[in-house]
Amino acid sequence: MKKTSKTFFLIAISMIVLHACTTTSKVAKKNTDSVQAPSAADLQRGKQQYSDLTSDALQQGYDTFTTKCGKCHRLKVPKNFTVDKWNTIFPKMAVKAKLSDQEKQNTLRYIMTMQSQK
Ligand code: HEC
Repeated sequence: MKKTSKTFFLIAISMIVLHACTTTSKVAKKNTDSVQAPSAADLQRGKQQYSDLTSDALQQGYDTFTTKCGKCHRLKVPKNFTVDKWNTIFPKMAVKAKLSDQEKQNTLRYIMTMQSQK
C-alpha cells in the first residue's frame, strides 16, 4: 500500500517537472508567446522589406494591432503564422476590424516586421 502511493507520487512529480520543462523551452526558443512592441532592431529589419518605413509608422501599426485586433479573439502573435497565412487572413481581418487604409498599411507592416524576427 505504502509503496504504491510512493510510486504514484513520484510519477506525478515527474510529470509536473516534465511539463514545466517542455513549456519553458518552447518559450525560450521562439517569441511565439507574446505580442511585442517594435524595437530599434525591428525597425532596421523592417526597413529591409519596406524602405520608407518609419519608427512612427511601425509604432502606429503596433498601436492599431493591440487596440483593434484583440476584440474578438486574443491577439495573434505574428510569428505564429506564416507570411502566406498573413497575406490571406489579414485583408479579411482588416475588414472585420474596420481599419482605415493608413491603419491597414501600418498594421500589416508591423505584423510582417515582427513575423520576420529570427
Ligand atoms: C469582428 C471580430 C474580429 C476582429 C475585430 C478581428 N478578428 Fe481575427 N478572427 C476573427 C474570427 C471569427 C476568426 C476565425 C475565422 C476565420 O479564420 O475567418 C479570426 C481569425 C484570425 C486569425 C487566424 C487564426 C488561425 O488560427 O487560423 C488571425 C491570424 C487573425 N484573426 C488576426 C486578426 C488581426 C491581425 C486582426 C486585426 C486587424 C483581427 N484578427 C481582428 C474575428 C475577428
